[in-house]
Parts: sequence; structure tokens; C-alpha cells
Amino acid sequence: MTIRKIARMGHPVLLQHAQPVEDPKSQEIRRLVADMVETMIDANGAGLAAPQVHEPVRVVVFQAPPERVPPETEAEEAFDHTAPLTVLINPRIEVLTEERAYGWEGCLSVPGMRGLVPRPTRIRYSGLDLEGNEVSRDARGFHARVVCHECDHLDGILYPQRMDDLKDLIFETEARHWSGDRPSDATKTESAD
Ligand code: NI
Repeated sequence: MTIRKIARMGHPVLLQHAQPVEDPKSQEIRRLVADMVETMIDANGAGLAAPQVHEPVRVVVFQAPPERVPPETEAEEAFDHTAPLTVLINPRIEVLTEERAYGWEGCLSVPGMRGLVPRPTRIRYSGLDLEGNEVSRDARGFHARVVCHECDHLDGILYPQRMDDLKDLIFETEARHWSGDRPSDATKTESAD
């Protein structure tokens, strides 16, 4: 396994429409995924998409740990908020609600920044794992957010393009001035990436 160099905003590979994977069981994909996982963990990210390591193919890795579940969540819903380390090849997303929530996101390709991004609160996603088996899950909250963020990378979209107010694009070092919400807007809540 190798830690790969991460492409940063401005590199053309991040703007491409990534290509579908023809054989999820191939050695190349297995090696790519192993490198992506190592790179993501090394960089302390919640997710990573293949174009971020200069491979324009439709592969993402991510995790949504239990620490991200809001404390008031009902037990039966909490399941949808978490995901173990997951590999998703040729992913598809179905949005299950009109509802959107704002949450702070970061991106390993946009280092040092945070932005408040609206995302659907409930999705269903599917795709293939490394054995070629179909994976399908319902996701809410941070889990839904991280999957939307990573899959956007496959269509050449970075999170600032999803923002509706660039006043909410800030340097991480200034995040201490923000207690989750803008002081002027109490409706903007939820988690960070
Ligand atoms: Ni990202």
C-alpha cells in the first residue's frame, strides 16, 4: 500500500466526469482502494474519492463513525447514521426527501478551509464492493452528507460549488469563532466533515 498524493482544487483531474469501473474485482482496483484507504486515514479524512488521488474512475471510500450520530437520535434511526469503512464502486444515489440540512464540510482537496453546505438529510445509495457484490444502504445525517460529498467528486463537483452563501466559506483556523451556526442564522446546524 502507498500513500498517494492528493490533488488540490485547481487540478483538472478534480473537474472530470470519472469513468465507470468495468471490473471491480481487478487487481488495479484492489490496489487503488488499498491506497485510497491508507491515504484517507493518513490525512485524517472521513472519505476520499479516486479522482482526488489522480485516478478518474468511479470509486469512493468513506466512514461515518458513531461519534457523528446526534445524541437525541432514536435507536432505530441511529443505524442509518453510521457506516463502517466502506468501498463503493460505480455508486448511485437516490434522494429520499426534500429536506436539506446545513453542515460544515471540509475536503482534503481544499485544505485548510471549511464551508457550510446544504445536503439532503436522507438518501439511499448503492454500488458494488470489491467482490462485485451489490451494496445498498439508507443513510441520514453525516452518513448521507459524506456519501453525497464523495460522489460529487466523481462528477467533478467540489463542495464550494454546492454552497449557497460564500460568506460561509472560512479558514479552519477561524472556525473557533463559529459555534456551529452563524450568529445571525439559527437554522444552520448539523455536523462537520
Ligand atoms: Ni472532498
